[in-house]
Amino acid sequence: MTVLSPRPDLWTLDPGVLHLNHGSYGAVPRRTQELLAELRAEAEANPMRWFRSVAERLTASRLELAAYLQTDPAGFALVPNASAGVTAALATIPIPAGTKIVLTNHAYGAVRYAVERFARAKQAEVVTVDVPLEADDDSVIAAIEPALDVMTAALVVDQISSATAMVFPIRQLAELCRSRGIPSIVDGAHAPALLDAPAGDGADFWTGNFHKWPASPRGTAGLVVSEEWHSETLPLIVSWSENDERLPERFDQQGTHDYAAWIAAPESLRVLAELEWPRRRSELSAMLDESAKVLAKALGTSVAEVARPAATMRLVELPFPGVPSPEAGEAFKAKVSQELKAEITLTASDGRVFVRLSAHAYNSPQDYQRLADQLPSLI
Ligand SMILES: Cc1ncc(COP(=O)(O)O)c(C=O)c1O
Repeated sequence: MTVLSPRPDLWTLDPGVLHLNHGSYGAVPRRTQELLAELRAEAEANPMRWFRSVAERLTASRLELAAYLQTDPAGFALVPNASAGVTAALATIPIPAGTKIVLTNHAYGAVRYAVERFARAKQAEVVTVDVPLEADDDSVIAAIEPALDVMTAALVVDQISSATAMVFPIRQLAELCRSRGIPSIVDGAHAPALLDAPAGDGADFWTGNFHKWPASPRGTAGLVVSEEWHSETLPLIVSWSENDERLPERFDQQGTHDYAAWIAAPESLRVLAELEWPRRRSELSAMLDESAKVLAKALGTSVAEVARPAATMRLVELPFPGVPSPEAGEAFKAKVSQELKAEITLTASDGRVFVRLSAHAYNSPQDYQRLADQLPSLI
């Protein structure tokens, strides 16, 4: 079987730039952008008529997005992003004073801030469990398990971590939490399109972004809530649907808002389907395995030995003397952008600094080869 060809033609990305960081903000295919523009034009042609049509269109969109996740639509709500999903979950669970919320050293920074805010307000403690970068599933569970005790109000855990692009054993962790009566909140920001049925692992709350790997318009994410929490889970903005007994509909109304992105979101799922996404994803994964090695060789470093790396992200170590300050990290990325016309991101873990490479349908091996040829000159 021949390898699928890269399809940059389906996006509108600047061809003069190497786009190697889909993982941060995604990129929306042309077709979805066009639909979004049409929907917005329709709204501007007659705002009253548009807002009368929104509820029905949101329902259709939600059903399609829930089907994509293979989850029960009755427990699936739309939220603007994974940050909102985690925050809504934290606002729902009881956090008695003196208890602890457990997360890992891989947690996304903004999610950690959310946990810290709730812990402060409820006089609870934040406990960070260290999980080694190279840990396999059993080692991840062995590291987290001792922190799950009678004083644990919740476990907040990544399904795929951001800085370390590592897949966590969510099914086992959710089961462990359930057996101990501890609510689990899964940050699946990167999971849609990278894992099949990512919301089906039995967590109390799962959130994931459609605006990352499924390439939906920005501001589109899902919150999947297990049945026992349906009635208590509330959207962050109090609006007209406040007293709706149905969880998804309760989240549909968030005041006057641009709902076009949520309505257009499924179009990108159709684009992915036409791109033969599951097959393409495994081809992208194989391409990244090779490309990461090429870059590591050029830099004189190594590819991080993540036991279960995310399908379309890899970490290549940078030969830096230590972790740069946030300002120095930003300055380096800006220099790469300006001088190499390449968009990359840096991450750090355990004192090591990495380029986190992403691959989507618009990328080809030549992209990473160019980075390998040019990046060493900037270090
Ligand atoms: C692991 C993880 N969690 C949460 C988020 C936050 O996502 P958003 O900015 O869509 O709220 C991100 C974003 O990159 C992420 O990588």
